Amino acid sequence: MRRKLVAGNWKMNGSLAANTALLAGLKAGLKVDLQQAACDVAVCVPTPYLAQCQAELTGSSIAWGAQDVSVHEAGAFTGEVAASMLLDFGSAYVIVGHSERRAYHGESSELVAQKTLRALAAGLTPIVCVGETLAEREAGQTELVVGRQIDAVLQVLDASQLQRIVLAYEPVWAIGTGKTATPAMAQEVHATLRARLASKDAAVAAQVKILYGGSMKPENASELLAMPDIDGGLIGGAALKAADFLAIIGAA
Ligand code: G3P
Repeated sequence: MRRKLVAGNWKMNGSLAANTALLAGLKAGLKVDLQQAACDVAVCVPTPYLAQCQAELTGSSIAWGAQDVSVHEAGAFTGEVAASMLLDFGSAYVIVGHSERRAYHGESSELVAQKTLRALAAGLTPIVCVGETLAEREAGQTELVVGRQIDAVLQVLDASQLQRIVLAYEPVWAIGTGKTATPAMAQEVHATLRARLASKDAAVAAQVKILYGGSMKPENASELLAMPDIDGGLIGGAALKAADFLAIIGAA
């Protein structure tokens, strides 16, 4: 039985004051809900706010992490942030290969695979994102596209490393658009991804969490999370409002 994970991706949003209010709301709401829902909860925040998360979330049931990591360990890489630095601030997770990084920063699947390795080597749990654009879906290429993205990662991981990743399926056309994949559409891709993982190691594939991301909100969370291969959510917009994020956690 895979334990569900609901992770917020704050993207480039927040301020010290707004974060304190949001985290206080989550902590207050989770005292009861988390035990009932029995799922894992995390927030992936802009890097400057990791220290704030460490200060305000230590001892709570909410884990935290970042949204990107360097492939390099240390050195002359201006603007980059090392996995060890994320760890210094108590991070448990790091998102790698989000479609916004692939699209706006030219990140290739090979780079994403190297970032996954770096995160694992540091002891972080990488949340590896894959997903197709609308044009790719309409051209019938969804399986091909997400297959290539996941294969690049599978090529560099052994089974024990694979066991430590979280995968997230985020159809690009559903991100921030209000359009959501139907539960059946999402389940179909999740099952395809799990089969792909199983080609590496069937027992491990059965344990890897595969999250859905793309306009998941309180109104659609329950039906998505009821699908057999959807093991949680990677939440953008709805993670910025305590009530909405708590409602999704409740659904999980
Ligand atoms: O990583 C989460 C994300 O891309 C989904 O964003 O705003 O559609 O929930 P949103």
